[in-house]
Amino acid sequence: MKHLIFFAAFVLLTTTLTTLTTGCYYDNEQDLYGVTSCDTLNKRYSVEITKILADNCNECHVPSSGSYVDIAIDNYDAVNGYVQDGKLLKRINDSSNPMPPAGLMSECDRAAIQAWINAGALNN
Ligand code: HEC
Repeated sequence: MKHLIFFAAFVLLTTTLTTLTTGCYYDNEQDLYGVTSCDTLNKRYSVEITKILADNCNECHVPSSGSYVDIAIDNYDAVNGYVQDGKLLKRINDSSNPMPPAGLMSECDRAAIQAWINAGALNN
């Protein structure tokens, strides 16, 4: 009987210790692999996409902007035109001829645009 109690106490102790030392194991993808997981859910033209374009493209692609090139992408129809002919995705991912010309946008910004296009490039 005594042995049984010792055994039970031993099992309880090791279980508790194991839980305490490994239970709160913390890691994340970015620390482990250097990969950022981007939030690509619910990307809307009127909110997330126009913000990315405003931050990265309007400087040259909005008619009133300082260094305007005669290629507007400041409204849905124009943007959607470049979605449909494939030029938008091509240029934002083309590291040898990128848009913006200074260099590719962040992976998450590009993934957001890709997700919006995959969902049908809606005027939402
Ligand atoms: C510093 C100015 C500048 C910025 C910022 C810029 N562009 Fe451009 N963009 C140009 C110029 C100049 C051209 C025309 C020459 C060329 O195609 O490389 C162009 C061409 C394009 C074209 C090709 C149009 C065609 O008919 O072939 C697309 C699509 C485009 N830009 C999208 C974008 C997007 C999307 C962004 C933001 C992510 C962006 N650009 C940011 C200057 C810019």
